[in-house]
Amino acid sequence: MRTAPDMRVNLAGVELRSPVIAASGTFGYGVEFEKILSVERIGAFITKGLSLTPMEGNPMPRIVETPDGMMNAIGLQNVGVEAFLREKLPAIRRMHDTVCIVNVFGFTVEDCVAVIERLNDAEGIALYELNASCPNTKHGGMVFGTDADALRDLVTRCKASAKRPLMVKLSPNVTDIAAMAHVAEAAGADAVSLVNTFLSLAIDVETRKPRIANVTGGLSGPAIKPIAVRMVWQAARALTIPVVGLGGIVCAEDAVEFMLAGATAVQVGTASYADPRAVETIAAGLTTWCAKHGVRSVRELIGGMVQELR
Ligand SMILES: Cc1cc2nc3c(=O)[nH]c(=O)nc-3n(C[C@H](O)[C@H](O)[C@H](O)COP(=O)(O)O)c2cc1C
Repeated sequence: MRTAPDMRVNLAGVELRSPVIAASGTFGYGVEFEKILSVERIGAFITKGLSLTPMEGNPMPRIVETPDGMMNAIGLQNVGVEAFLREKLPAIRRMHDTVCIVNVFGFTVEDCVAVIERLNDAEGIALYELNASCPNTKHGGMVFGTDADALRDLVTRCKASAKRPLMVKLSPNVTDIAAMAHVAEAAGADAVSLVNTFLSLAIDVETRKPRIANVTGGLSGPAIKPIAVRMVWQAARALTIPVVGLGGIVCAEDAVEFMLAGATAVQVGTASYADPRAVETIAAGLTTWCAKHGVRSVRELIGGMVQELR
């Protein structure tokens, strides 16, 4: 009898039972999914980005479907860190055997540091994911992830305050992703995740108006996957810290592809909009894929792309 594949991966000192993680902004605060899927069967979940004070987000419409993907300009709507600690985290703690990663967002470096400091003493959080890449706000967000000096300053100061491992979510809206990933690593990041959404625009040709009230939005879903895989590959080759890959994953094979490109773990975002159980299905599918392909430990896949020299 063959033994089941070992699906555990280590993400910056945190052991995950599966490399498949629910991505920020597409999984609420985790608790909303408790009755929809078996959260304890996925590697971890990441909360919606938390800011210092509550945010209402951008005006509607703020989501639009596009070929093989979607655009959003939610604008970081969230309950704010205080309400998260008071109302969400106690319920998260009651969800046994789940790994909760909190996504942190701020308009300034000081905002981000303040959110981290407020979260530091709370129990039930495994890791922070610092959003240095939101394309849908006028300040902070993508500015941090597209300017090397701003990214260095942000990561250095957040790392100095964080009492937990810090994963930095990078913007794909840059020319040289390896260089930006390297800046994050040198400034103290314990891991990086990529990609966030691509800055995009869709126009209704009848009304001649942008299809999203914010005018531009972030493109996600299968349409971006090959670009995301390329960026993960470039970042992973440049770094020694773990890279978490995402962008358009909808099935187990997509997750395998990201891991072969160098990802230690993967995240599933937009797919949860089409099927709220997608993260669990992909995690189970990855186990089956490994068993079928004689992969005894999922860790064998990391960076396993075969590149023939010509
Ligand atoms: C509706 C929506 C909201 C999102 N909100 C956040 C967020 O709050 N923080 C963040 O870091 N990323 C956020 N993202 C980006 C996703 O986590 C992910 O990086 C991106 O969508 C690419 O992955 P996917 O193609 O699997 O969706 C959001 C994405 C969507 C579609």
